Amino acid sequence: MTTKMSLPKARIIGLGSYLPSKVLSNRDLEKIVDTTDEWIVTRTGMQERRIAAADEFPSDMGVMAAKQAIKAANLEENAIEMIIVATMSPDYISPSTANLIQAQLDAPQAASMDINAACTGFIYALSIANAYVKSGIYKYVLVIATEKMSAFIDYKDRSTCVLFGDGAAAAVVAANGQGLSIDNVVLGSEGKLANLMMIPAGGSRHKASEETVSSAQHYFKMSGSEVFKHAVRRMSQVSEECLTQAGLQADQIDWLVPHQANKRIIDALAKRFAIPEEKIYHTIRKYGNTSASSIAIALHELTEKHPLALGDHLLLTAFGVGLAWGAIVLTKCT
Ligand SMILES: CC(C)(COP(=O)(O)OP(=O)(O)OC[C@H]1O[C@@H](n2cnc3c(N)ncnc32)[C@H](O)[C@@H]1OP(=O)(O)O)[C@@H](O)C(=O)NCCC(=O)NCCS
Repeated sequence: MTTKMSLPKARIIGLGSYLPSKVLSNRDLEKIVDTTDEWIVTRTGMQERRIAAADEFPSDMGVMAAKQAIKAANLEENAIEMIIVATMSPDYISPSTANLIQAQLDAPQAASMDINAACTGFIYALSIANAYVKSGIYKYVLVIATEKMSAFIDYKDRSTCVLFGDGAAAAVVAANGQGLSIDNVVLGSEGKLANLMMIPAGGSRHKASEETVSSAQHYFKMSGSEVFKHAVRRMSQVSEECLTQAGLQADQIDWLVPHQANKRIIDALAKRFAIPEEKIYHTIRKYGNTSASSIAIALHELTEKHPLALGDHLLLTAFGVGLAWGAIVLTKCT
C-alpha cells in the first residue's frame, strides 16, 4: 500500500508595495486624447492611475516594494536566496530586472530571474516560489511584480492609454512563519491567441528600426472587446478549478482579489460566483491596470486595511497577454 505524502505548504510571510506619486486622472487624459471621464468610468471603472517619473524604472519601484516586504517578514535582506521578478515592461530586454534589483539589495548570494506572464505574472511567479520552497531547495524566495506600463503605452491610442498605470508589489515566500499559506495554484495559457494583445516590435522578429518606431510598433496593442470575453471566461474557469482543488465553495471565500483590468470584468466574475461586492477588493478606480503588479498591490493593500482572521480564505485570479491566466487560494495561517 502506498501513502500519498503532501508536502508542507509554503506561505507568504511579508508583503510590500510601491506606487509612484504622479497621478494621471481621466480629466488629464481628456486633454491628451479624444475621450471623456464619463466614458472611462462607465466602461472601465477607472478614475486615475499612477505614472512613474521619467527617471523611475521597474527595478527602482521593485526595490521599494521588496524592502517593505522583507521588513514585514522580519528578515534581513541577505536571507533571500532567490529573487523572481514578474514584469512585461523590464528596464532592459537583458539583463533581467531581477538582477538589477539584486544589485540594490544586500542579498549577494541570491539567484535572480525574470518571468514574463504579463498580467498573470504575479501568480506564475508565486507558483515558482511555492515549488522552490515546498521542495526544500530555498527557504526564502522574494517575488516581485513591477511594471512601468506607461513606457509601452501609445498616448495617441485612446483604446489602450486610458487603461494602464505603473507600480510594484512584493511578497516573501517561506517554509515557516505567520502569513498566508499557498493552498492551491492553477495556471493556464492559450498561445494561439497571442495576437490579441502584444507589443509587436523591439524583439528579434521585428527589431527596432526607424520604421518600427515611426509606425508605433513598440507600443502595446490590444483587441479590447475580444480580450474582454476571454478574460471573463478564463478567470471564471480557472477560479472554479482552483476552488475545487482547494475543496472550497465560492461562499467560503472571504476575499476575492481579481486582476484589475476592467470593473465590468470583475463584476461578471463576481456574478458568476455570487460573491458579494463587499468581499471583492478593488484598486481599479485609483490605479487602473498595473499588469503583473495589479493583484499584488491589491493583496498588500487589502491586508493593510482589513486585518485578516485566522482561517480566512482569499481567491486571487488574473488574466492577460499570452493569453495566460491563473488562480491561487491563500489562507491566513499561524
Ligand atoms: C478596452 C475596453 C475598456 C473597451 O471597452 P468596450 O466596451 O469593449 O469598447 P469597444 O472596444 O467595443 O469600443 C466601443 C467604442 O468606444 C470607443 N472607445 C474606445 N476607447 C475609448 C476611449 N478611451 N474613450 C472614448 N471612446 C473610446 C471605440 O472607438 C468604439 O467606438 P465605435 O463604436 O465608434 O467604433 C474593454 O474592451 C476591455 O476592458 N477589454 C479587456 C481589457 C483587458 O482585460 N485587458 C487585459 C489585458 S491586461
